[in-house]
Amino acid sequence: MKDIFQRKKENYRFRDQFLYHLDNVDVKFRHCHALKGITLTVNPGEILFVTGKSGAGKTTLLNLLSGDLHPSRGRVLGVEQGDRFVSQVFQDLRLFDNKSCEENIWYAYDAKLYKNRNEFHADMIELASVLGMKDKLSLKIEQANGGLKQKVAMVRALMTRPNILIADEPTAALDKESSIKLFDVLNFYNVKRKLTVVWASHNRDLVKQFPGKIVHLENGKLIYSGHACFI
Ligand SMILES: Nc1ncnc2c1ncn2[C@@H]1O[C@H](COP(=O)(O)OP(=O)(O)OP(=O)(O)O)[C@@H](O)[C@H]1O
Ligand SMILES: [Mg+2]
Repeated sequence: MKDIFQRKKENYRFRDQFLYHLDNVDVKFRHCHALKGITLTVNPGEILFVTGKSGAGKTTLLNLLSGDLHPSRGRVLGVEQGDRFVSQVFQDLRLFDNKSCEENIWYAYDAKLYKNRNEFHADMIELASVLGMKDKLSLKIEQANGGLKQKVAMVRALMTRPNILIADEPTAALDKESSIKLFDVLNFYNVKRKLTVVWASHNRDLVKQFPGKIVHLENGKLIYSGHACFI
């Protein structure tokens, strides 16, 4: 795959230190203790999978990293630093149903990041081709299947040219082949642009095939942190 960012000079500052550090963090909701004593570090340029069954606390952990949630106890360091650009793929995707796939992706357009609309369009077509959805771009979201919606949400997130991508269950509606293709794309961005990826998935068997780090949650507790291939 051609480096679709080669036309733009890269200017990402990465510290040698961590991107995020959670220090003994708890999150309590009214009737639920969602995260318990979580300590973990996300390093620059890392691919980190957050795994666990439904209700284990994956989305809650991602919300801490995005700054959408504050801990009930402990500290989350790194969220406030302003020289990073985070893009998110939400578990509920947050697409506009009455607009086409392409129209949804255009919401990522930022004139400061692209020379012109043609450049954005060319990059979008290239990414859509790689993900096998180029011929579906004119389809309305309300007519799209779950897999296509998920790809649209991912393309929209990547087209904002983030240096951190937080993706919540980005393959929940994808088959194995599409999931692997998606990982290949993110891995490419990771290698070429040092994109840091935090990817939550209930499907540990899928993500443990990919190179990266896994943190595994059970009932809000971190029970494993290490290389994906050792879990
Ligand atoms: N806003 C909230 N108010 C109350 N409880 C919540 C809230 N958000 C999450 N919870 C609870 O916290 C626990 C962890 O939820 P979370 O959504 O983080 O799990 P998850 O691992 O992402 O699950 P899933 O795989 O189903 O997406 C669950 O018991 C959930 O019901
Ligand atoms: Mg979740």
